[in-house]
Amino acid sequence: MNIELIHNDIKDIAEISVVFLTPKQLETHKKAKQFKKAGFTASQDSCCFFHEKALLVCGIEDENPDDFRSSMAVGIKAVKNTKYSSISIDVNHKNIQAIIEGIVLGGYEFSQYKSKKEKQSLKNIFLRTSNIEKLQKTFEEAIIVAESTCFTRDIVNTAPDDFTPASFAKVAKQLAKEYNLECNILDKKELKKEKMNAMLSVGRASRHESKLIHLAYKPKNPKKIITLVGKGLTYDSGGLSLKPATSMVTMKMDKSGGATVLGIIKAVSELKLDIELHIFIGAVENMIGGDAYKPDDVLVARDKTTIEVRNTDAEGRLVLADVLCYAQDKVQADYIFDFATLTGACMVALGQYTTGIMGHSNELKHQIFRTANKSGELVGTLPFNKHLKKLLKSNIADISNVASKPYGGAITAGLFLDHFIKEDNKNKWLHFDIAGSAYTESDWDCNVYGGTGAGVRMMTHYLQNLK
Ligand code: BES
Ligand code: ZN
Ligand code: ZN
Repeated sequence: MNIELIHNDIKDIAEISVVFLTPKQLETHKKAKQFKKAGFTASQDSCCFFHEKALLVCGIEDENPDDFRSSMAVGIKAVKNTKYSSISIDVNHKNIQAIIEGIVLGGYEFSQYKSKKEKQSLKNIFLRTSNIEKLQKTFEEAIIVAESTCFTRDIVNTAPDDFTPASFAKVAKQLAKEYNLECNILDKKELKKEKMNAMLSVGRASRHESKLIHLAYKPKNPKKIITLVGKGLTYDSGGLSLKPATSMVTMKMDKSGGATVLGIIKAVSELKLDIELHIFIGAVENMIGGDAYKPDDVLVARDKTTIEVRNTDAEGRLVLADVLCYAQDKVQADYIFDFATLTGACMVALGQYTTGIMGHSNELKHQIFRTANKSGELVGTLPFNKHLKKLLKSNIADISNVASKPYGGAITAGLFLDHFIKEDNKNKWLHFDIAGSAYTESDWDCNVYGGTGAGVRMMTHYLQNLK
């Protein structure tokens, strides 16, 4: 699909024009009668084709970016089912980014495993404006961010036996080559040397060797140094605390955090932002077998914390404990953000659509909240407190990998990670639980079945606006 920005005095370039209407605008539209006769009420996410008029009308509640994005996603899906080869859409500086996201992310398809690939007729999308110069930069940036989000989705959607820790390493090397990034990949032997025994224990029963991936984008004179850490569980069976059959399905998505930070470094490299960016991924598979780590094991993390394992399905936090320690040892960052599909409890607390954010700095949480809203992603803060922290006490080790009470599970998981954040970094760190937001089995907003790429748009927007 080719998307082009063109001057709006070019007429009749596309077979179909897409027009957005609010219910109020519908009332005064010159074709209101015909539209209404066809059943179109301009309600949000409804659309109606008028083939004889070469027109697709899409309903929006209001003229804000969220409404345009969601409506465009519905519209693009409608056009994709036709034999038209080109469409045109009028855009302005307020809605261009949302419309591009609606097209690219709403029109996304993952067809790698389909034997019969459906041929798409739609080839050209023309975005019409009176001021190309003013919109050109936003246009190019929006395409980069949307395509990086699709890159993340592709990784999440790939089957677990086709995307292993070694695949994470391979993709990282490809990105390093393409964008001239520094790349360091630690295998089992090196992980042992680095004393990352919590991470290694989780991956021990897998036939795929665990890997730690470190990629760095280093421009001259960066404004800030940022570290991103991603949970890259290429499969989470639960380990010996085995997941029930129905909960295991979709657990290929447990690599979403790792896929997200890869998408972000891709976007940042293409946008050529003047910040130094480090990403660290703990790429591991959590399996069962004679060599599996067990409930009752006591693991010694990189920072020498002893961890009592009470549930092998709470594996993400064990991997992240070591990766967070390693990342803090290697890079003195201004901010540290981790992305992880960490807890089902986060979905219970906030719903499927919202990323949970946790940390100590209220200012940082506010900044991220504002950024997220502007980028079109949903976040909600989950507050830490000392009472929940106490639930992680272990009778035999320094800390337990699960809390003694089930309530507030997303927060106790966040507090477990907090144990591994150094005192100097407490206010520089935020944890993003993307368990709900990273994957969907039904379409919503510009998300379609499968990985959503949660975190890519939000974090890239944050980094683009860092002072
Ligand atoms: N990967 C899961 C969390 C998850 C659940 C992500 C559902 C997406 C959808 C994580 O490793 C896990 O299993 N967490 C446990 C923690 C529990 C054992 C304390 C959970 O949420 O049940
Ligand atoms: Zn798990
Ligand atoms: Zn997991």
